[in-house]
Amino acid sequence: MRMLPIKRFLAKATRHRKRYGRPLVTLAYAQSLDGSIAARRGYPLTLSGRESLRLWHTLRAAHDAILVGIGTILADNPRLNVRLIRGKNPQPVILDSNLRFPIGSKTLNNNKLPWIFTTESADRERQRLLKTRGVTVIRVKTTSDCQVDLHELLHQLAHRRVNSLLVEGGARIITSFLNERLVDQFVITITPFIVGGLHGVEKLLCSHMIKKPAINYFPKIKNYQHHRLGQDLVVWGSVTWEDS
Ligand SMILES: NC(=O)c1ccc[n+]([C@@H]2O[C@H](COP(=O)([O-])OP(=O)(O)OC[C@H]3O[C@@H](n4cnc5c(N)ncnc54)[C@H](OP(=O)(O)O)[C@@H]3O)[C@@H](O)[C@H]2O)c1
Repeated sequence: MRMLPIKRFLAKATRHRKRYGRPLVTLAYAQSLDGSIAARRGYPLTLSGRESLRLWHTLRAAHDAILVGIGTILADNPRLNVRLIRGKNPQPVILDSNLRFPIGSKTLNNNKLPWIFTTESADRERQRLLKTRGVTVIRVKTTSDCQVDLHELLHQLAHRRVNSLLVEGGARIITSFLNERLVDQFVITITPFIVGGLHGVEKLLCSHMIKKPAINYFPKIKNYQHHRLGQDLVVWGSVTWEDS
């Protein structure tokens, strides 16, 4: 399976940060044939086969940072590190507007402790407690629905010299990044099951903006490629918007 060789990827990511003032963003998740990433929100479901799991760890090692929402932390309690291949751990980044991050999170066992991006109104006592566990809490601007502003987040990550960011989910995070048009490339593994559960991509804003949405309004995968990996299908490519 040919993806961009690692050296060229790293150079591309550095150029991207310098040019756009934000990291190169890769969206990556595992879904069933019908687009489900979990059987229902808040419950983990391992969809990837062994070969796909190695791919996820290879992707993690190639990126400077890995991001998930607090929903994924609470549901899956992921380590967010590299275990199945030899490689460096990415910096874990968690979006958590109300500092619900649990002290029992497995991310606290990593050599790189998490950076939590939260909002101005988050509880200061809770921040102090998290700081004693080595967590860095960063307060950023909020959106109108009191969530972490993704543009501000990426600006802050670029400031911390993060060139490449792997966004692993869950559904709300994937949808927000797509709605803000902040996805540069994607990798999806498709496993041959029908789950009928939580869809990876929820409602996109462009489907409401016009009465009869035309296909061109939706994010398009350019130059996509695919490959069979064990029982899964891997699809990857870059993302563009028609009017961008
Ligand atoms: N198959 C896969 O590859 C995969 C990968 C990851 C997760 N999952 C599954 O996905 C499910 C979790 O997904 P989820 O949608 O419930 O949660 P999520 O996307 O992991 O986290 C969403 C939460 O992040 C916080 N947040 C802060 N700023 C945000 C922003 N700008 N945009 C969106 N969210 C923001 C919000 O909580 P606050 O308001 O409290 O801040 C929001 O509810 C679990 O069942 C998990 O197993 C599957």
